[in-house]
Amino acid sequence: MKKNLHFVGISGSLRKGSYNTMLLNAAYKLLPEGTTMEIVEIGNLPLYNDDLQSGSLPEPVSVFRKKLSTADGFVFASPEYNYSVPGTLKNAIDWASRGKDSPLVGKPVALMGATQGMWGTVRMQIAFRPIFQFLNMVPVNKPEVLIGQAQNKFDADYNLIDEPTISIIRQQLKELATLATHAQIIKEVTTEQN
Ligand SMILES: Cc1cc2nc3c(=O)[nH]c(=O)nc-3n(C[C@H](O)[C@H](O)[C@H](O)COP(=O)(O)O)c2cc1C
Repeated sequence: MKKNLHFVGISGSLRKGSYNTMLLNAAYKLLPEGTTMEIVEIGNLPLYNDDLQSGSLPEPVSVFRKKLSTADGFVFASPEYNYSVPGTLKNAIDWASRGKDSPLVGKPVALMGATQGMWGTVRMQIAFRPIFQFLNMVPVNKPEVLIGQAQNKFDADYNLIDEPTISIIRQQLKELATLATHAQIIKEVTTEQN
């Protein structure tokens, strides 16, 4: 079996003081033993245009897809925009979703979100489900990481300080590692059989 698991983390918010980027950075520090994560930016991607799929992909897109192709699983930390997935994140997913060599298809994913409001991005997380379904991705179903009142859960240095939230993130990442391990075992068995 492969030794270490590697994840790619993406924040759905581009703003400097983003709670979701803070959340992703917190997740980075809470990764289970034997796992690594690279946080990949999406702010430099052009708007999706299917015409650009025919020739060589725009440079930022091919770099992005290459980074994602190294992942055994994904961690998405995203705000909820208008009850749904922010356009910036959806754009990044659209770019990564096409072709037989899509770096997303079939892989495990942990979804988390933070908002200053009460509902902790629950509607964004529900809006994500059909995307995962179409891409045959394997989401961690439980526990859900829904962080409301985010302004009270990070300190002035952007550290996550809320113990119940820390604990649930740890659990979710552990589940992601379990799903990624299962995916590796299935891949190995399938390769051996072929
Ligand atoms: C375009 C836009 C739409 C938003 N829609 C929602 C929403 O539907 N539900 C919600 O709880 N908060 C909504 N918000 C507030 C965000 O949850 C809040 O700004 C949050 O801090 C953004 O995440 P960030 O700190 O990672 O940038 C919206 C904010 C913006 C800018």
